[in-house]
Amino acid sequence: MAIVTSTEMFKKAYAGKYAIGAFNVNNMEIIQGITEAAKEENAPLILQVSAGARKYANHTYLMKLIEAAVIETDLPICVHLDHGDSFELCKSCIDGGFTSVMIDGSHLPFEDNIALTRKVVEYAHDHGVVVEGELGRLEGIEDDVNVSAKDASYTDPDQVEEFVSRTGVDSLAIAIGTSHGAYKFKPGTKPQLRFDILEEIEKRLPGFPIVLHGASSVVPEFVKMINEYGGNMPDAIGVPEDMLRQAASMAVCKINIDSDLRLAMTATIRKYFAENPSHFDPRQYLKPARAAIKEMVRHKIRNVLGCNGKA
Ligand code: G3H
Ligand code: 13P
Ligand code: ZN
Repeated sequence: MAIVTSTEMFKKAYAGKYAIGAFNVNNMEIIQGITEAAKEENAPLILQVSAGARKYANHTYLMKLIEAAVIETDLPICVHLDHGDSFELCKSCIDGGFTSVMIDGSHLPFEDNIALTRKVVEYAHDHGVVVEGELGRLEGIEDDVNVSAKDASYTDPDQVEEFVSRTGVDSLAIAIGTSHGAYKFKPGTKPQLRFDILEEIEKRLPGFPIVLHGASSVVPEFVKMINEYGGNMPDAIGVPEDMLRQAASMAVCKINIDSDLRLAMTATIRKYFAENPSHFDPRQYLKPARAAIKEMVRHKIRNVLGCNGKA
């Protein structure tokens, strides 16, 4: 098996009413935890790299780790740039072997978003790479960009056909009420997503793959663990799993998860040090952290995304 684009994955996911997990990766243990779970579940996989991850770990290191994961798992794995903010960044990832890039022009005026996205699509398609665009703005934090609630906006279904046909994108990220990070909904309120908007978009773009960002469930047991072992996280509420299942059964073919990986890793390491305060060998605390990531990803694949057995 090789590093692949998401084209075939999305076709099958749309028809089969499931979604592919797109997990953010930053180091070897995260890549191993995710890919070991996908291997055992025989699941197709998207590993995504943000600009911040690239700065932290270096493009080549991440690419080589992912290549190693392909050899070890024999799975189809798509390597995707998450939230590319410029043509130059997308080009650098395409030239460096990624099979998919996101150009996130969602903060730009409609025409400027189209122009930038179109430019990336032309270069990407010439190189056999697929492109995810975005319409609508999610609340929350990505890298150093903090989108406040007042600047967030739902995707306008009236714009999606024009955006897709004029840019030539292969998938579209939309905003229906999810947000980045661990604090997605106000404590005491009931989480709600605008499934009516998703349904309308599905009608306007039949068969077209939709992407859901900000889709961590903020697994409560990890938040509890962090606070039990010396952390101090305020009430954190994520996207309920039944809503993710509903989205996956509709036009959503790619579900982005990062915060749940961070929580799993941090909670496990905090617990480890609380129980073993004199230890200092990184392998001792990274091993259970990697195992926690694996179990969390396995649960998502099997019980939320429904892509187990689909590789
Ligand atoms: O959507 C953002 C992802 O969680 C990546 O976060 O930019 O801090 O790596 P990052
Ligand atoms: P979460 O913060 O909900 O994990 O979202 C991640 C994401 O959308 C990456 O693009
Ligand atoms: Zn995102």
